[in-house]
Amino acid sequence: MKIDVHFEPAAPLPDLTGSLVVVIDVLRATSSMVEALVNGARGVYPAPSTEEAIKLASSLGREDTILCGEARGLMIEGFDLGNSPLEFSAERVAGKRLVMSTTNGTRAFFLVEDAVKVLVCSFMNLSAVAAAAVAADSIVVVCAGREGLFSLDDAVCAGALVQRIRTAVGSEVELNDAAMGAVEMALTFRINSHFLAATSTGQHLIEIGLREDLEVCAEIDRHSVVPEMDDRVIQLPTEGSSGRKP
Ligand code: MLT
Repeated sequence: MKIDVHFEPAAPLPDLTGSLVVVIDVLRATSSMVEALVNGARGVYPAPSTEEAIKLASSLGREDTILCGEARGLMIEGFDLGNSPLEFSAERVAGKRLVMSTTNGTRAFFLVEDAVKVLVCSFMNLSAVAAAAVAADSIVVVCAGREGLFSLDDAVCAGALVQRIRTAVGSEVELNDAAMGAVEMALTFRINSHFLAATSTGQHLIEIGLREDLEVCAEIDRHSVVPEMDDRVIQLPTEGSSGRKP
């Protein structure tokens, strides 16, 4: 098995043919996606911009579609929800389609949309993603980062994922330099809300009054689901299928 980690989405990605891709945006896009799908959302449609999100939501039909996401961390004017995981309660999202636009996370999904299989990872579903990935020959982990650049929270999550996969595989795993570095980072930092609070994205969220999001985003294995993107829609795979458009 071979695992490549990519810290900076602005840098070119390798050829993804034949690789399982894992996208990570701990603060907060992939954490919110996991929470929303666990709470019964029919599917999350990542959008590359606010404008595209609005267009997509009206083409899907506003009745059972929720517009969500953030700009500078805050809910976008005219949207229904922001990007705090706890906003995605069953009362708000069960049975709904979510069109989501965020600064980094949803854009990262467009970089990997040609991959055959794309999984959604956060601390909140870390072990489930690791278990789902062990059978792959080649894994590419894409950190959404911050404005195209390195983000420590995503890198540590990537390292924790690589560690779990290596332990489960039990044999030699070839790692690129970033994957090796990510493992060291995951061994260095204790994962909790204080760690997230020290990162630049965490500090920004605290400044805008969203400290409580850090608590939930730091909750390792809060859920055991593995959302997958298929044809630009992220869903929990149904038994016997690998994802279907809702
Ligand atoms: C993003 O995708 O950029 C984020 O998740 C940022 C945020 O939620 O504040």
